[in-house]
Amino acid sequence: MRATGITKDFPGTRALEDVDFDLLEGEVHALVGENGAGKSTLMNILMGIYQANKGQISIQGKIVQVKNPGDALRCGVGLVPQELNLIPELSVAENIFMGNEIKNGAGAIDWKRMNTEADKLLKKLHIRDIQPENMTKGLSAAFQQLISIARILASGSQIIILDEPTASLTNRETDNLFSIMKELKKEGCSFIFITHHLDEVIHISDRVTILRDGRRVHECATKDITIEKMIYYMANQKVAMMEHMKRDIPDEIMLRVNGYTRGNEFRDISFSVRKREIFGIAGLVGAGRTELINAIYGLTKKDSGTLELNGKPVEIRVPTDAMKLGIGYVTEERRKLGIFAELPVDINMMMPSLKKFYKHRMIHYGQLDKSAENYVKKLSIKTTSLDTLIKYLSGGNQQKVIIARWLEKQSNLLILDEPTRGIDVRSKGEIYQLIRGMADEGKTIIIISSETDELLAVCDRIMVMHEGNCKGFIEDPEGYDREEVLKMALR
Ligand SMILES: Nc1ncnc2c1ncn2[C@@H]1O[C@H](COP(=O)(O)OP(=O)(O)OP(=O)(O)O)[C@@H](O)[C@H]1O
Ligand SMILES: [Mg+2]
Repeated sequence: MRATGITKDFPGTRALEDVDFDLLEGEVHALVGENGAGKSTLMNILMGIYQANKGQISIQGKIVQVKNPGDALRCGVGLVPQELNLIPELSVAENIFMGNEIKNGAGAIDWKRMNTEADKLLKKLHIRDIQPENMTKGLSAAFQQLISIARILASGSQIIILDEPTASLTNRETDNLFSIMKELKKEGCSFIFITHHLDEVIHISDRVTILRDGRRVHECATKDITIEKMIYYMANQKVAMMEHMKRDIPDEIMLRVNGYTRGNEFRDISFSVRKREIFGIAGLVGAGRTELINAIYGLTKKDSGTLELNGKPVEIRVPTDAMKLGIGYVTEERRKLGIFAELPVDINMMMPSLKKFYKHRMIHYGQLDKSAENYVKKLSIKTTSLDTLIKYLSGGNQQKVIIARWLEKQSNLLILDEPTRGIDVRSKGEIYQLIRGMADEGKTIIIISSETDELLAVCDRIMVMHEGNCKGFIEDPEGYDREEVLKMALR
């Protein structure tokens, strides 16, 4: 497949300018770039979701018109989107063959054959525990992703686009995806692979294209580039890696958690967090970290355990109890739960702090926008204006707006679950810088993250969890590395 001279304008922004991109048979071509660089837009054009203003697409040397995703599939191109879009109420087989159902001679759906074919596809993708008749509802992100790939294979397509597929996968699931990709490559499938994890680019791709501000700034064989060089091309400047910084923290305990237990999610977890501390909870996806925080925050009911805040026992039964105590929680599902698609960036950002900007019962937009503008600068949020509807921002930039919202809200204790998922390397550093600044000003922060390197750089202390158990604490992260934390989790 070859795309040449692709230009795409949106009102107020040029998302892509004269971009060339090609894909060879049986290769993995990585596409990288900062948030808002144009990666998803380019893929949406290849899929016929958007029409380019200029440029053309050809497949096996023939120019093709791709007006919608159906056209793309007929040309042999399928997309697994950044936000998975299976229909939960349908079975696995129905999702795989949606719009492409197998019919019998009489024109009715041939359920038996459809289920057998679905089963074959599932086996090919190493899925053993799920039957084609199962509902899709409740399946993990990893399974849903594989089912999306199965759907593309079922249509006979050989070109598979993966838009940030590993963002919500465990390490093991990522390895599984990579081995499936390697097998499919041997059968002639090609992949376009978008990710912010540059180590994955080195690991799995044959070639890499780098976008910056809608332009292709570099393209080369993966073996000819390093992570550092990629970052340099992406950011057009040197980006210093975050380093650990020792902070002075008073001995005053802010939050004490005693013996928290809930079913088989987590058992007998006790820890305390000091005032002004940045406290990390490390572990693999599935270690029970989010479940623990959900119970502390009153989103779910604990079986046992007690809480103390500033030395006094407190009871949190529902999230509003926690909010009244000055505790804020940014969930990992913030994009799904936290965005008001039809409202502009500034209102989305200041939603919980609007009261602050009221004057004579009216919102004082001047002040609100001054604060909002500050975050747009600090976090390099890419948006045409503060009035732009948030749905028009790229995935990573929407994330940044939601993070800014909670930084502005200024809870005394702020809990962040996977705050940098989907965020580019440079902005990650900026977000952690802001978090450090907040802690220095007196806020207490708890961060859950699967990015152990980041926790080691930013946290004062870290608790390591594995399969619902506390495996120990790292009192001084200085000098620790990722492998040591992993060993601690697994010991
Ligand atoms: N429907 C739209 N209307 C207006 N602007 C848009 C639209 N879709 C994307 N844009 C703009 O185009 C630019 C590129 O966005 P795109 O989603 O392609 O970025 P991306 O590289 O995928 O970033 P991320 O890593 O955050 O997912 C951004 O500035 C974005 O705001
Ligand atoms: Mg994107």
